[in-house]
Amino acid sequence: SILIVDFGSQVTQLIARRVREAGVYSEIAPFTTAAEAFARMQPKGVILSGSPASVLDDGSPRVPPVVFESGVPVLGICYGQQVMMQQLGGQVVLGESGEFGQAFIEIQDDCVLFDGLWAPQERHQVWMSHGDKVIDLAPGFRPVAVSPGSPFAVVADDARRYYATQFHPEVVHTPDGAKFLANFVRHVCGLSGEWTMAEFRAAKIADIRKQVGKGRVICGLSGGVDSAVAAVLIHEAIGEQLTCVFVDHGLMRSGEADQVVSLFRNSYNIPLVHVNAEATFLAGLAGVTEPEKKRKFIGAAFIDLFEAEAKKVGGADFLAQGTLYPDVIESVSFTGGPSVTIKSHHNVGGLPERMNMQLVEPLRELFKDEVRALGRELGLPEAFVGRHPFPGPGLAIRIPGEVTKERCDILRKADSIYLEEIRTAGLYDAIWQAFAVLLPVRSVGVMGDGRTYDNVLALRAVTSTDGMTAQAFEFPGGFLARVSTRIVNEVRGINRVTYDYTSKPPGTIEWE
Ligand code: XMP
Repeated sequence: SILIVDFGSQVTQLIARRVREAGVYSEIAPFTTAAEAFARMQPKGVILSGSPASVLDDGSPRVPPVVFESGVPVLGICYGQQVMMQQLGGQVVLGESGEFGQAFIEIQDDCVLFDGLWAPQERHQVWMSHGDKVIDLAPGFRPVAVSPGSPFAVVADDARRYYATQFHPEVVHTPDGAKFLANFVRHVCGLSGEWTMAEFRAAKIADIRKQVGKGRVICGLSGGVDSAVAAVLIHEAIGEQLTCVFVDHGLMRSGEADQVVSLFRNSYNIPLVHVNAEATFLAGLAGVTEPEKKRKFIGAAFIDLFEAEAKKVGGADFLAQGTLYPDVIESVSFTGGPSVTIKSHHNVGGLPERMNMQLVEPLRELFKDEVRALGRELGLPEAFVGRHPFPGPGLAIRIPGEVTKERCDILRKADSIYLEEIRTAGLYDAIWQAFAVLLPVRSVGVMGDGRTYDNVLALRAVTSTDGMTAQAFEFPGGFLARVSTRIVNEVRGINRVTYDYTSKPPGTIEWE
């Protein structure tokens, strides 16, 4: 395994992800507890992360001595390089000007980290983000790559198997970075690259048991993939000590709430409290048309109902959540400074502050595609694991204007025809999200010999990698016409269908 010593960089989790992608197990430990983690794991290599700190500050983070005493290979990244040089006898100074963003390095010499990747005299794109820089290498090191701002963009001490880079190989803006890190874990540390999700599952199960002991855990299900995967994993770890609560707001797509309930009760035999709160939510939404008011009401009502149920269950010590890594980083702004609230996102989040329980968050290190892989590993059905993202407030934000039971039912019918056609056409997995929006607009039509005056429906489908930006999906010719005909013929209350071509930005994915 690889131990990643975290000095507080925003992108430390990406190092772990790249190591996982290379098929090697890794754990992240904050520098404060890295010595214990080292003793427990006996890792075959150590990676030192970046940091917002400066090695020149008093009391700035240090590498635990055991790392250098043990003789394992070490790779320092950015701050990791600087702290390594400082502790091993080199010198670091305050940079007059830092390097931030895209940069080009020039390869000077062969290095095991460049195997199959880079050769001397070549120039390659990397991502830099540093103010301080190394001016004197520690004894034993030689420079193998330079950049305009750093004479020691990559340095190597092959005898001790110590390597360090000023750039960040873990981010996507260093296009060869993943292979560079794979070279470290495979060629330098000699790890075989056969680690899989099966081992992640086993390791997390051990962690959960250790954290929870004999305590009781309560888990809020949203009906989506993340909370379901978290719950199934936790159940595997602690069985009957887990209770799941599904606050069903009645604003799910057709059949999806039932799927979750039956998955838990029938396929996994996991105790589940199903709170059918459709009436409460619809009553609270009556007369509400303003999008933020809808969102705020749904978020607050959800928490109230969950809390009431948790009290009935009684005596839970831990609250489990399916928090993913993107949820963690989104809450800490990368650029600093407050960002404007475009939409108040509602998740099972917001609960911990209220409930005064310890958190169990086994998916905190994972990205969406990794959660899906873990879900498959746990035996969740493909149709469930591969589901498109669905917003916490559900159909309420896909019905501009007032939300009523009747409008929810109309939307559910139209939406299910749309998705059925997408699945039949084999397009589901090519799309990030597809859904219908029931507009508060009526239009005139003619059916048979009669005049109709009915609702307009908008269809939306987008491609995206992370939901932050998105493009409208281009359906093959004839597809939208077929869906439109089916919806107008089969769904009473809709007589016109449109397609939304707006990208994000300037639009958002959901309409509200
Ligand atoms: P927008 O509409 O902001 O959506 O472009 C980006 C992604 O987030 C989903 N979304 C939500 N997810 N709670 C969630 O869990 C919410 O309140 C929420 N609002 C939007 C949206 O479906 C898309 O995937």
